[in-house]
Amino acid sequence: MTIRPLVILPDKTLRLPSEPVTKFDGALKTLVADMFETMYDAPGIGLAAVQIGVLQRVITIDTAKKEEDPKEPLVIINPEIIWSSHETSTYEEGCLSIPEYYEEVERPKSIRFTYQDIKGEKYEVLADGLLATCVQHEIDHLNGKLFIDHISKLKRDRCVKKFTKQAQRGTAPLSGANA
Ligand code: NI
Repeated sequence: MTIRPLVILPDKTLRLPSEPVTKFDGALKTLVADMFETMYDAPGIGLAAVQIGVLQRVITIDTAKKEEDPKEPLVIINPEIIWSSHETSTYEEGCLSIPEYYEEVERPKSIRFTYQDIKGEKYEVLADGLLATCVQHEIDHLNGKLFIDHISKLKRDRCVKKFTKQAQRGTAPLSGANA
């Protein structure tokens, strides 16, 4: 397992759509193992493959709160949201690709989604609370979308400007540096 460099805003890779996984092979296993290693190291509760520069529809999640809690690793491949609740909930979200930036985001409180596991087996689950928010945040990544797309344009522009300046100063990885 390897900790891979994270792709950081404003790297344009984050805006690209990811491709469905068709081969459930050893390379996929390695990718998933590396994603968990990278996510736990950061630390984060969710990671999409695009955040380590791999444009495949692969997500790792672990919403176990405290460090002493048992790990609850979840691998979600080729997810599709098939139902969203009208009821919404608001969480303060952050993103490993937008380090140390947090804003409140409102999303459907519950979702039903299908996905495949690492062997390619299909599942359908109902999620709510933090897991529902996290899955929606990560599926956004697979579609080139970021949580800052859900906040006001004024705040988003300010955030992008800040990270663009940081990248120019070299205090954050430059665009393409993680490729
Ligand atoms: Ni994120």
